[in-house]
Amino acid sequence: MTSILFVCLGNICRSPMAEFIMKYMARNRDDLYIASAATSDEEIGNGVHYGTVGILREKGIPNPGHRAIQMKRSDYDKYDYIIGMEDSNIRSILMITGGDPYGKVHKLLDYTSKGGNIADPWYTHDFETTFNDIYIGCEGLMEALDGKA
Ligand code: 4NP
Repeated sequence: MTSILFVCLGNICRSPMAEFIMKYMARNRDDLYIASAATSDEEIGNGVHYGTVGILREKGIPNPGHRAIQMKRSDYDKYDYIIGMEDSNIRSILMITGGDPYGKVHKLLDYTSKGGNIADPWYTHDFETTFNDIYIGCEGLMEALDGKA
């Protein structure tokens, strides 16, 4: 079993979107455990943003429901991959974990030729661009995982 934690600032827009896209891509396999969490405590307990729900519905990707949780230090031991959306997430993740001795922490778009950060639709209101970037990131991550299998 390979475990993956997607992480963003609030855990209501980008990281749950990544969780549901990756779960959809992995729907015919049972060797991946996929979850998401926030670096901040801003949205703890809140549901997925309606913009994220809307774009997932438009793309035909199930949104099984979710409540925002905050990442904990112990998640570093629990997960094989901890995937942030942007540079500031990576800095916050490393603050929470106290470092990355096993090289588990990565940025999602580093699994694509494009690189860079996933824009935060909380600010941009552009859920389509964020969806497309997260989708190619998850495809790249899936290829990286299979390359290791
Ligand atoms: P997310 O978006 O990190 O993609 O879930 C945000 C959600 C909430 C806040 C910021 C970003 N907030 O400041 O509450």
